[in-house]
Formats: sequence, structure tokens, C-alpha cells
Amino acid sequence: MPAVVINPRIRGFICTTAHPAGCAAETASLIELARRSGPGRGLGCALVVGASMGYGLASLATAMFGYGADAVAVCLERAASGDKPGSAGFYNLAEVQRQARAAGRRLTVINADAFAHATRAEAIAALRRLGRPLDLVVYSLASPRRKDPDGDAVWTSVLKPLGQPYTAKTIDLDNDQVKEITLAPASEAERQATIKVMGGEDWELWIAALEQAGLLAQGCRSVTYSYIGPAITHPIYRAGTIGAAKEHLEATARRLHARLAARGGGAWVSVNKALVTQASSAIPVVPLYISLLFAVMKERGTHEDTGEQIVRLFRDHLAPGRQPALDAEQRIRIDDREMDPAVQEEVARRWQLVSSENLRQLSDYEGFKTAFRRLFGFAVPGIDYSAPVEVAASLD
Ligand code: NAI
Repeated sequence: MPAVVINPRIRGFICTTAHPAGCAAETASLIELARRSGPGRGLGCALVVGASMGYGLASLATAMFGYGADAVAVCLERAASGDKPGSAGFYNLAEVQRQARAAGRRLTVINADAFAHATRAEAIAALRRLGRPLDLVVYSLASPRRKDPDGDAVWTSVLKPLGQPYTAKTIDLDNDQVKEITLAPASEAERQATIKVMGGEDWELWIAALEQAGLLAQGCRSVTYSYIGPAITHPIYRAGTIGAAKEHLEATARRLHARLAARGGGAWVSVNKALVTQASSAIPVVPLYISLLFAVMKERGTHEDTGEQIVRLFRDHLAPGRQPALDAEQRIRIDDREMDPAVQEEVARRWQLVSSENLRQLSDYEGFKTAFRRLFGFAVPGIDYSAPVEVAASLD
């Protein structure tokens, strides 16, 4: 069993190592928050697709430890190999599995490509073994590519503006300098590929397969996550390729809602707050916006992390017996505190002023960097990073 000292290896928005003990400690804190958030019962069984990091991990923890669900979790993570550590999500789910077992809950982890029909079949077999239909399906995938489940095509999503080039401030995460970048607009093929990867097609395939397998309980609810954000990021986010995919996802939710409402349930998009995750860090301009946003929201006492967002989503909208409050487009909005006009006005004011020189005064860039490190189990209080740590872990 190899025990090694593990240091962060970060380039831009990529970290190629992960610390098992740090990831376990972060996941344990999330589980603790989830435990305090709900009654510990109410949900029989949940499926979370994209369950090992970010919003999906928080959803899994809240469903299981806040509302007592047994669960099937789908992710795409790397196991340790020799003395080379696995990926962060692998260790996160190993900790959820450990705590589930200790609490007498059942969790099956399927570490495979969620876009493949074979993975759906595996999940269905696991759900049949659990022997209870689903009360909740959370679809929280964030992926750079998708292989056609019925052919050989591979679609790659891009983070680009549409129509015209977009010039804006951004942070170079390697040297902490604020600089200007110009992003060329996407081609039509890139726009369509991004919709294929991050739009609603795959979510709909999951719901159809589960329905056909007779695994949706009466009253089953499904939720997926979207983002809108402020005018500053619109050209790269909401009005860009990813925004086109999110519009597709939202249209899919309306269709799926009709399907699930017929059995007393529903399907919704929840529009969430911008947070530091592997997926959001990769979007140009967004890390600078997040750094400014975190400063303003922390000053006002309205900042929430991933776990707190999902706890509020369940408590106010998704928990058994609650009816989701919806906006005019039938979306749940837990981005309300981010989109508070006073918050946005202050972020926009600082956006005009921010430069490499005043980055740390005007923004919470340190908070961004720390949150990024913590995604991979680094910068976690109480962990001795000079000590060798066991890298082998199991999801069984
Ligand atoms: P993340 O990068 O933290 O997690 C992505 C998850 O998807 C991981 O569990 C990963 O294992 C899984 N995954 C990726 N490709 C897979 C594949 N082929 N097969 C199986 N699993 C796969 O992502 P994050 O940020 O939590 O995003 C989840 C959703 O939330 C996305 O729809 C995103 O657009 C949305 N969202 C994110 C916001 C943010 O600021 N991070 C804000 C609002 C919405």
C-alpha cells in the first residue's frame, strides 16, 4: 500500500494531483453540513449523475445525509495507480462511501462515462439491486466532451462567444496578472457540439431509460443546474456557446417536467451561484468575476459555498413536501443573492477599476485560489502535508 508525500501541481485551471486526506476532510465537512441540514429521512432513493465534485457531490451528500436516501452515484474519476494519486473526485466518493456504510446507508458508485448507454444499463442494474424506485434524479455533469452513444462521433464543448469577438479582463492564473484577452467567436459547428455535450439531450436519455425500466417512483423529481450571471460575463457565458447549451437544457427541463408531472413529480433547472469548481475555473474571465463577487458577498455576509447552496436548494425547493418556487421561465433561482442588484452594482464598479496592482484589495483572489486548491484536497486546515499519505482507495 503506497504512502507518499503529495504536493499540488497546478497549471492554470488544471491541478494534476490530489491529496486523499485533504479530499476526505473536505467531503467530511460537506457531509457534516448535510447532516445538520435536514431531518435525516424523507427520500428513499436518489441517482446523482456527476456526483464526485462540485454541485453533484453536494447534492449526493445532502440527499443521503440530510434526507436519508440510498443512492447510485455516477462519475468519471481516476483511481490511484502505484504511488500516483487518483483524482480528487475518487477520494471524495471514497469518503462518502465510508460514511454511508457507517450510517447504514447504501451507495453504489459507477465510475464510467455517463454518456454511454452501457453506463445507464449499469446504473439501472444497481438501482434494481437497491430494490427501490427513485424519488430524486440529479443531473450535474460538467464535461469537456461527449462520445455519441450511438456512433463514433466525439463532440467537444468550447467556451467561446457567439457572433463577434469578445475582449475583456481576465486573470492569468499562472502569474496572477490581470490582463486583457480577446476570444474569437465560435463556429456554428462548435456551438452545436457544445449543445450536444452540455445541453439536455443526455439528461433526457437518462430519464427515458429510467422510466422505461420502471424505476421512477410516483412523485419522482429531477433537477439539473444552470447559470445566468451578470452582464459582464454574458458574452462568454449566457450569450456564448455554454449559454446556448444551457438554453437547450432549460427547454429540456420544460419537456421533462410535463413527463414527470404526469406521475406527480417534476423536472426543473436550478440556476445556481457562480462558485469555484473545476468546471467554472476553466471559463475565461469567470475567475476574475468570481474573485470580485466573493469579496463583495463576503463583505455583505451573503456568500455561500457549494454545500450551502445545495442545502438551501433542498430546504426551500426540493425537500419532500416542498413545492419549488419558480421564476417566469419555470426555473428555481438560488442565484438570487449573487444577482442582488446592490451586489452586482458593486461588482461592476470594481470590475472597471481592477488591475494587477489592486487585485488583492478589490477582490478575494486569495479566496478563489484557496477554494481552487481545496477542490483537490490542498490548503485544508488540519492536514499535515509533509506527512506521507496512503494513495490507494476503493469505491466499493
Ligand atoms: P464539476 O467539474 O465540479 O463536476 C463535474 C462532475 O461531472 C464530476 O463529478 C465528474 O466526475 C462528472 N463527469 C464529467 N464528465 C463525466 C462523464 N463523461 N461521465 C461521468 N461523469 C462525468 O462541475 P460543477 O461546476 O459542479 O458543474 C455541475 C453543473 O452545475 C454543470 O451543469 C454546471 O454548468 C452547473 N453550474 C455550475 C456553476 C459553477 O459556478 N460551478 C454555477 C451554476 C451552474
